[in-house]
Amino acid sequence: MASQMFSCWFLVLFSLCCFHKSFASRITQEDQLQHTHHLVQLTSLLPSSTCTFPLKGSNKRASLQVFHKHGPCSQLKHDKANANANANANANAETHIEILKQDQSRVKSIQAKLSERDKLKELDSTSLPAKPGSLLGTGNYFVTLGLGTPKKYLSLIFDTGSDLTWTQCEPCASSCYNQKDPIFDPSQSTSYSNVTCTSATCTQLTAATGNDPGCSASTKACIYAIQYGDSSYSVGYFSEERLTVSPTDVFDGFLFGCGQNNQGLFGGTAGLLGLGRHPISFVQQTAQKYHKIFSYCLPATSSSVGYLTFGGGSSNAVKYTPISTIARGSSFYGIDIIGITVGTNKLPVSASLFSAGGAIIDSGTVITRLPPTAYSSLRDAFRQAMSKYPSAGEVSILDTCYDLSGYKSFYVPKITFSLKGGVDVELAADGILYVVSEKQSCLAFAANEDDGDVTIFGNVQQRTLEVVYDVGAAQIGFGAGGCK
Ligand SMILES: *[C@@H]1O[C@H](CO)[C@@H](O)[C@H](O)[C@H]1NC(C)=O
Repeated sequence: MASQMFSCWFLVLFSLCCFHKSFASRITQEDQLQHTHHLVQLTSLLPSSTCTFPLKGSNKRASLQVFHKHGPCSQLKHDKANANANANANANAETHIEILKQDQSRVKSIQAKLSERDKLKELDSTSLPAKPGSLLGTGNYFVTLGLGTPKKYLSLIFDTGSDLTWTQCEPCASSCYNQKDPIFDPSQSTSYSNVTCTSATCTQLTAATGNDPGCSASTKACIYAIQYGDSSYSVGYFSEERLTVSPTDVFDGFLFGCGQNNQGLFGGTAGLLGLGRHPISFVQQTAQKYHKIFSYCLPATSSSVGYLTFGGGSSNAVKYTPISTIARGSSFYGIDIIGITVGTNKLPVSASLFSAGGAIIDSGTVITRLPPTAYSSLRDAFRQAMSKYPSAGEVSILDTCYDLSGYKSFYVPKITFSLKGGVDVELAADGILYVVSEKQSCLAFAANEDDGDVTIFGNVQQRTLEVVYDVGAAQIGFGAGGCK
């Protein structure tokens, strides 16, 4: 009897102990995975068919809502691609292919502009025409601002890679593309005026747009022309107007382009808000009020809303890296990348690989472009970590894709960018995968052609991060969880 009881107790103890042991090891394993991986649900990466607006915060600063131009939040109804983005999976994939194609042309034009600058630097710049090259494609996020008196609201794509702010203007002397908002009519505004072509202001256009300004024969109005990498362009009068950011933040005499001949893939928006580094950019024109500080958070998906805020006072969890001097002289904001970590795996790429071509952060480039050596190292580490998941076909520039449709949730290795100044930027899961469709989730990075090409930290990788541009203090900050 006693021995029976003993063995019974022994069994109970034994099973308790073993149960406990396996339970414990499972917990440790998951702890470890959670430490180095994101546990992701596919549905969280897919935009829903309706827009989720954030709860109103108590933020007193000038803050605008940021929308993705393709998605249920945008309401840019003239945009064909947007119309059924979620209703029809094929149309959706087409939209993504188109977005990635445009992205490639933006990257090409950025590379061209920067390499032309290098050539200008190398040779004697005085002996060359002052034409730094046309730039940029079109970007994907927009905000709404008021222009004129009385003010008219306009949706403008914001772009840290360009300087001139412009909008389409009546009477659209040559052509205007379709936009959602009524086209701005300067004759209906009491605060509009032309800049004259003899003024110093007019000559600033050369550096800001890459084109020398023109002059209207009759009124001596200053004429700007800016073209973008994908054969989009705007030509019109360089003008001054009252710009309203918020009821308390109104700027008189804001310099902008009043476009009479406009063409391109601006997705139903009315034009562009230039947040680059040149003196005519919005950042510089509003420096007295906002002290050259702005910050944004790009939403996780096209069905959520981010923000673009002007002025200081960001959240405390932001860590700053110096704005790099590599891209000095251009519109772009340079950063210094020191290394990349995938999971626990620090990639065997050195800081000098990134410094060869330099690196910029850009709100308008979608997919981050890396030196080919860094990309293949990142891709290999990522593929290894994802080896248990079925792969899917390539999409445009994205060559590492998975079919995750059979998983309720899955693990994606964390990716961290180490920047100068001891700043580690851990990407959100939304910043690692580009979801083309339920059956196609791709590593959202691509390789440049050459290790000497500029590295571009794109907008997918910036999703949900609070990114602070403190241009006065020459630093850029990153914080996690800025928006959803
Ligand atoms: C600006 O210049 C254009 C082109 O010469 C002219 O048609 C327009 O009337 C001018 N507007 C103002 C307010 O002077």
